[in-house]
Amino acid sequence: MTTLTLLTAALLMVAVSVAQRHNLIDCRSQAGDRLLAQESSARSFKFLSYVSDEIIIDVGRENRINCVEIIDRWNDGTGGFAQIIEGGVTHTYVKVKIRSKFNRSFWFDVKVYGQ
Ligand SMILES: *[C@@H]1O[C@H](CO)[C@@H](O)[C@H](O)[C@H]1NC(C)=O
Repeated sequence: MTTLTLLTAALLMVAVSVAQRHNLIDCRSQAGDRLLAQESSARSFKFLSYVSDEIIIDVGRENRINCVEIIDRWNDGTGGFAQIIEGGVTHTYVKVKIRSKFNRSFWFDVKVYGQ
């Protein structure tokens, strides 16, 4: 391979690793699971700063969460990062924190499945 080919391959790899959705999926799915709740979170960028949001989804005491899907609506890698900070799988609620990248906006969908 020529140096140019190697360089192109390396650049492509960087582009692929950067330009990705920052999804967070935590599932212990079981037969009969259904969508229990769904919420979106979007924030506009703050100039030269960060934005964040916290979402709490409570599915009620009679339900159990088996799957949390946090989907980054932006596929170019500029979306923020999501984190489950409380609850989640096996619990009746989940608390999700989303932080933007520096000087960037974000848009995430949070879906909770269970029964
Ligand atoms: C921050 O975002 C604004 C709006 O998208 C852009 O014009 C500016 O160049 C950005 N600054 C940096 C340092 O990324």
